[in-house]
Amino acid sequence: MAGTGLLALRTLPGPSWVRGSGPSVLSRLQDAAVVRPGFLSTAEEETLSRELEPELRRRRYEYDHWDAAIHGFRETEKSRWSEASRAILQRVQAAAFGPGQTLLSSVHVLDLEARGYIKPHVDSIKFCGATIAGLSLLSPSVMRLVHTQEPGEWLELLLEPGSLYILRYLHPGSTHPSKNVPSAHPVPWVLSLNPALPEDAFTPGGSARYDFSHEILRDEESFFGERRIPRGRRISVICRSLPEGMGPGESGQPPPAC
Ligand code: OGA
Ligand code: MN
Repeated sequence: MAGTGLLALRTLPGPSWVRGSGPSVLSRLQDAAVVRPGFLSTAEEETLSRELEPELRRRRYEYDHWDAAIHGFRETEKSRWSEASRAILQRVQAAAFGPGQTLLSSVHVLDLEARGYIKPHVDSIKFCGATIAGLSLLSPSVMRLVHTQEPGEWLELLLEPGSLYILRYLHPGSTHPSKNVPSAHPVPWVLSLNPALPEDAFTPGGSARYDFSHEILRDEESFFGERRIPRGRRISVICRSLPEGMGPGESGQPPPAC
């Protein structure tokens, strides 16, 4: 028995880019909050940042609006890409989305300056479907997910440059993304820093997308466990699935954080 305990201890922390408040949240969310370090080659990272830089540089960083979720950022919604970047985005699609999922036609590009950060929020279901997949460029960062009703339940994702993260809603009982049938909740969610969600919004299954808020830690708080993760400027390239029942042309103009 003692041997089993030791083995469990050794295997509990999970992959070194995901930390959690405990083994149950780690195992529950293992398919719902996924990090793939090194998803991009260095050449692919350069392809994307070289293409994005001139477009981003035309914009100014935006700051404090009292209830804004994101601070120190500029962003663009991009739908035209070079062939090389399109090939990268297709790899993201294949890795993160199911065959039945349609993606929003434009990709959200978010440039956080070194002191920029994203407060905890849940992306609006009005604009985003069940899956969000993000590539990180330039600087490492820590994404923290906290259960909206049980703040003691959390995950931290270490997002190194070139990594891909995926947050998805999994149906209860689903254990593998291939069984993931996306479905929008009948809940009128809006982006909220402190979401008060109705009872029926919660499922016993792992849902990093809906049951957990997500945030990108500011430099002063940027730790992955004990490990300090100094924050520099970070660009994320975020693909989202369409809410159910929406055609690609009907997605409207998403607000800044989705
Ligand atoms: C958002 C968001 C995360 C990221 O824009 O809603 O959560 O990786 N972004 O930049
Ligand atoms: Mn978000």
